[in-house]
Amino acid sequence: MAKPIMIANWKMNKTAKEAHKFTAEFIKIVKDVEGVDIVICPAFTAMQATADGLQDTNIKLGSQNMHFEEQGAFTGEVSPKMAAEFCHFVILGHSERRRIFGETNEFINKKVKAALENSLIPILCVGEDEEEREAKNTKNVLEHQLKACLKGVAKDDAHKLVIAYEPIWAIGSGKIATIAQIDEAQSFINHVLDTMFGEEIEKKIRTVYGGSVTHENVAELMKKDSVDGCLVGHDSLNAKDFAAIVKYKDILAKEEESEEKKE
Ligand code: PGA
Repeated sequence: MAKPIMIANWKMNKTAKEAHKFTAEFIKIVKDVEGVDIVICPAFTAMQATADGLQDTNIKLGSQNMHFEEQGAFTGEVSPKMAAEFCHFVILGHSERRRIFGETNEFINKKVKAALENSLIPILCVGEDEEEREAKNTKNVLEHQLKACLKGVAKDDAHKLVIAYEPIWAIGSGKIATIAQIDEAQSFINHVLDTMFGEEIEKKIRTVYGGSVTHENVAELMKKDSVDGCLVGHDSLNAKDFAAIVKYKDILAKEEESEEKKE
């Protein structure tokens, strides 16, 4: 299994001051955690404060978005190079960007390639909405999004990718997908990646789940081989809650202990 990765997507939350407070509390709890990559994606205005707060830790920063152009007249945008000054990762194709800001697969594809050219690791979000799921269209939607957003990505780069399966109906709704739905979708994503890049590379690409993940349901999710980590919105805003998610192995160990006691 690829190294697990837990990603906090703070969305449009937290000022610089609040970010600093979070990092101080968070690193105290997770300082000894090993074997999990941790990524925090703050708003750009809180990027420096978050970077300062995470200094001398292995916790990485991610950007919530970026433009694909190198520089120029794009009011309000941030270039890949600017994002790369702080970040190792960049979330691309989040459903909120697709729906509220009209980003298309073609547009996202340009961003994916620009990110890779600037040594940023794309966390590419894909997922179906409620209507598409009900019409049994989930697989078609996922395949189309993956193929269109990853068009032209070289095999040499593909292994670095993180793919986030985020069913739109499960985001911010408190309505998490069932483990069977998640496993089916993520296994299908792996199958598509296999046809695009070959099995060896597919095994290296991390596939994470996002949509109403909490410290209470994370352990169940992480039991599935197809799930290499989580992309967390709401439950990542509180340092204790996100730390508990990062430390999901502790929850699994406790479960095992109580099972043994029962026997
Ligand atoms: P949520 O958001 O955890 O609040 O559902 C997840 C996401 O949008 O990435």
